[in-house]
Amino acid sequence: MNKAGKASNIKSKDILEIIRQRKLDLAENKASPKQDILSHMWLRTFEDGQPMEERDIADKILGLIVGGHDTASTALTFVVKYLAKFPHIYNEVLKGKGPAPYTFVPFGGGLRMCPGIDYAWLVMLVFIHNLVTKFRWEEALPKEKTIFVPLAMPEKGLPIRLQAHSVYLDK
Ligand code: HEM
Repeated sequence: MNKAGKASNIKSKDILEIIRQRKLDLAENKASPKQDILSHMWLRTFEDGQPMEERDIADKILGLIVGGHDTASTALTFVVKYLAKFPHIYNEVLKGKGPAPYTFVPFGGGLRMCPGIDYAWLVMLVFIHNLVTKFRWEEALPKEKTIFVPLAMPEKGLPIRLQAHSVYLDK
């Protein structure tokens, strides 16, 4: 988590500042108690009436940012990689064929299933739609290794050669 947090360039000090500012804004009615998860975390109390500690809230917000950002960007990185490797799949996606109903979805299951699933699907589908309908691409380093830091990542950041559809459609 620490590494991932550093990779995303987020500091818990910055988050603490945002939390303290929100506390002031809530007290002065400049922020709404229902506006987002940060307000909820401030205003909900434990059974003994105590609110959560600032540091705990910061930790949870950082978890949401890292858990929400690095997961989807990692998944998209490998979508880009494998669509370059398998043009027949790229063509199916370009024709608008979505994932089959039995497609494996790595979001866990049961009570602790990922709460970001709908948002993550939306972000990924919008990204893939825009990319595939506008561009074709190939890997600059087809033999690039995958490293784990701790999430999977192409060792050199997946350099690609990108070409807009309009470039070759006009030819
Ligand atoms: C492609 C994107 C994502 C993948 C693959 C993914 C995957 C997962 C997995 C496997 C779990 C553990 C589930 C379990 O224990 O059964 C999880 C938990 C969680 N995810 Fe995601 N996630 C993604 C996006 C997001 C987003 C966008 C958010 C928030 C905006 C998010 C927030 C969380 C949180 C808070 C938990 C902990 C839930 C709990 O312990 O009750 N995730 N995620």
